[in-house]
Amino acid sequence: MVVSPPSLYLLAASLGLVAARRLGLANLTALYGPGLSPGAEIFYPSDPHWSEDVTQRWDLYHAPKYFGAIQPATEQDIQHIAKTSARNNISFLATGRGHGSTSTLTAFDGINIDLSKFRNVDLNANNSKITVGGSVNFSQLFDPLYDAGKMLPFGNSRCVGVLGASLGGTVGVWQGILGLGVDYLDSVRLVTAQGELVEASNTQNSDLFWGIRGAGANFGIVTSATFNLHDNVNGGNLTSIDLLYPGSANATIFEALKTYDDEIPNQLTLNIGSVYNRTNGQVLAVNVVWFGPEDEVMQYIQPFITAGPTINNTRTVRWTDWWTVADFGTYTSPSATDCVNGEYYTSYALGIKQTDPNALTTLFNNLTEFSKANPSFSGFFGIDRYPNAMTLRVPDGEMAYPYRDIKSQVTMQSQYHPNSTLDKAANDFWRNARAMVQATSGFDNLSVYVNFANGDEGPAVWYTPAKLHNLTRLKRRWDPMERFSFYQPVPLYYP
Ligand SMILES: Cc1cc2nc3c(=O)[nH]c(=O)nc-3n(C[C@H](O)[C@H](O)[C@H](O)COP(=O)(O)OP(=O)(O)OC[C@H]3O[C@@H](n4cnc5c(N)ncnc54)[C@H](O)[C@@H]3O)c2cc1C
Ligand SMILES: *[C@@H]1O[C@H](CO)[C@@H](O)[C@H](O)[C@H]1NC(C)=O
Ligand SMILES: *[C@@H]1O[C@H](CO)[C@@H](O)[C@H](O)[C@H]1NC(C)=O
Ligand SMILES: *[C@@H]1O[C@H](CO)[C@@H](O)[C@H](O)[C@H]1NC(C)=O
Ligand SMILES: *[C@@H]1O[C@H](CO)[C@@H](O)[C@H](O)[C@H]1NC(C)=O
Ligand SMILES: *[C@@H]1O[C@H](CO)[C@@H](O)[C@H](O)[C@H]1NC(C)=O
Ligand SMILES: *[C@@H]1O[C@H](CO)[C@@H](O)[C@H](O)[C@H]1NC(C)=O
Ligand SMILES: *[C@@H]1O[C@H](CO)[C@@H](O)[C@H](O)[C@H]1NC(C)=O
Ligand SMILES: *[C@@H]1O[C@H](CO)[C@@H](O)[C@H](O)[C@H]1NC(C)=O
Ligand SMILES: *[C@@H]1O[C@H](CO)[C@@H](O)[C@H](O)[C@H]1NC(C)=O
Ligand SMILES: *[C@@H]1O[C@H](CO)[C@@H](O)[C@H](O)[C@H]1NC(C)=O
Ligand SMILES: *[C@@H]1O[C@H](CO)[C@@H](O)[C@H](O)[C@H]1NC(C)=O
Ligand SMILES: *[C@@H]1O[C@H](CO)[C@@H](O)[C@H](O)[C@H]1NC(C)=O
Repeated sequence: MVVSPPSLYLLAASLGLVAARRLGLANLTALYGPGLSPGAEIFYPSDPHWSEDVTQRWDLYHAPKYFGAIQPATEQDIQHIAKTSARNNISFLATGRGHGSTSTLTAFDGINIDLSKFRNVDLNANNSKITVGGSVNFSQLFDPLYDAGKMLPFGNSRCVGVLGASLGGTVGVWQGILGLGVDYLDSVRLVTAQGELVEASNTQNSDLFWGIRGAGANFGIVTSATFNLHDNVNGGNLTSIDLLYPGSANATIFEALKTYDDEIPNQLTLNIGSVYNRTNGQVLAVNVVWFGPEDEVMQYIQPFITAGPTINNTRTVRWTDWWTVADFGTYTSPSATDCVNGEYYTSYALGIKQTDPNALTTLFNNLTEFSKANPSFSGFFGIDRYPNAMTLRVPDGEMAYPYRDIKSQVTMQSQYHPNSTLDKAANDFWRNARAMVQATSGFDNLSVYVNFANGDEGPAVWYTPAKLHNLTRLKRRWDPMERFSFYQPVPLYYP
């Protein structure tokens, strides 16, 4: 056989690439070791203790591919890794708490910069600030803050990374009284694509600070960040009410939710979730959070009381305990998988400005049918109504986060072991559901909080065309080689 020159060239080029990758594969110690501090550690997927030593991912489905992991111990280690990787054309990706589950991560093949040695929490109650390392989770903040009489807007999951969440915005039940988590960000220290260590705040590198507040995964690795704190509300207590309804009440519950579209007290949050139980069918679980005394809340939730819950559990607890008090009798809370790592999850979401009970009823019924038809599929959707008056107090132009006008977050999540037939059916199901809810959402365009996004939406949805003008300029300035372009990437140019 005669081999033509073009294929010889291709063969040589691909061998070269393979050889280069093998070099990286074979010995990260040789490549990165000289220059790392003594505290840094290197791991390989073949290590017997890889899954204990290296931060595990929540979602295996859209997991990045790693040929190794480095746990830097100092900021200089991260600078060294960034520079060495750039010189050797090796992709790198920072891991905080491993809860990122967007499908854009699937394209990643390189080394994991596991930030698990960056977990310091330094509270300064005197000036009401807290400084947290790059992989601190929310639950690490609870006791120190509570003890100091302080709080911050947290995410609804204790185990996600404070920075992973806040660099996108941080939405959750604290939003009604405090606004977004990112609104409390005061400054960050980060390692840039060039391996420089810089600070960003309103007074230093303020352009970068604008961009990292909403599109933060795109511009560097944050080693630590300082947040401004808020004083405890309601003496540090909240009222948490769990209500359970039979599936037959679904339309009534969605109608009840609609009555809060225009007016809702800042202290009130309504978390509504569907729960499918193979024995009993689909039910609705509602968690009400009230940042005030128990006897005040009843007047505000009459539509849910008259709907006749089969279970009602009211508790006044320290806010630090909200994450663990959910009680829906024999039913597990819809979000009970939030800290269960290493499963195959599929997530879709969107933000809405108004509630359409018909669309939600169709979704509820169709999900019931889909669950019955697919015994290995487990799925739920949630609608969380977060009052957004406090969120709107910060002017839109102040930072990259684009969606202050979202009133409710609709999240759809399923879990199943990938089987191509079911996988296609499940994704088609959720995409249709998302399109249906979007059509009556009050937004002209699909509007998705970047950290809840599936990954299939694209930059105009994660960031909006209006923000992309600033963001692409920042990308060209701070990350022109697109090294931080695996998690909901901002493009270099947007038409
Ligand atoms: C079950 C569940 C519940 C959630 N609940 C909420 C919620 O209530 N509110 C909310 O706002 N979000 C929520 N999220 C979304 C969450 O904010 C994102 O998944 C976030 O990216 C998780 O951060 P992580 O550090 O845990 O994940 P990782 O996978 O470690 O990080 C995700 C990406 O963020 C970037 N990143 C992480 N840390 C850093 C850093 N220090 N510097 C620079 N880049 C970094 C990296 O690009 C990384 O790929 C939830 C997610 C899940 C899975
Ligand atoms: C990797 O490199 C280090 C230092 O250069 C060396 O000590 C080690 O033996 C090498 N490991 C392998 C598997 O080649
Ligand atoms: C760098 O690596 C990528 C694959 O990871 C490859 O596509 C690209 O051509 C490489 N660039 C150089 C300059 O070697
Ligand atoms: C806070 O103020 C107290 C009393 O003035 C002082 O003793 C303490 O050192 C201060 N703490 C910090 C972290 O500045
Ligand atoms: C949060 O992080 C701490 C410190 O790493 C860990 O001990 C704790 O289990 C984590 N909490 C959750 C809920 O994941
Ligand atoms: C907080 O709630 C507990 C009951 O769970 C109660 O004993 C305590 O007095 C409350 N604290 C305040 C400040 O309201
Ligand atoms: C949801 O509510 C509608 C309207 O009342 C009802 O027809 C339907 O049966 C309910 N769905 C389920 C799964 O119970
Ligand atoms: C709450 O449940 C109790 C029984 O546990 C019942 O007596 C009461 O009427 C219920 N209240 C509402 C508002 O449903
Ligand atoms: C379904 O409901 C029954 C009884 O209500 C309960 O015993 C069972 O644990 C539930 N199953 C799931 C998966 O929640
Ligand atoms: C895939 O899942 C579907 C639906 O649950 C099932 O009918 C089918 O038999 C499965 N196929 C394989 C190859 O496991
Ligand atoms: C773009 O950034 C500037 C500050 O550099 C800000 O004034 C402007 O409002 C931003 N644009 C948008 C749409 O947020
Ligand atoms: C819901 O189910 C109906 C009946 O099967 C179907 O016509 C409709 O397209 C479905 N809608 C969505 C959004 O799944
Ligand atoms: C909606 O999307 C279109 C097409 O991407 C875009 O031109 C328009 O500016 C978007 N509208 C808003 C409000 O972002």
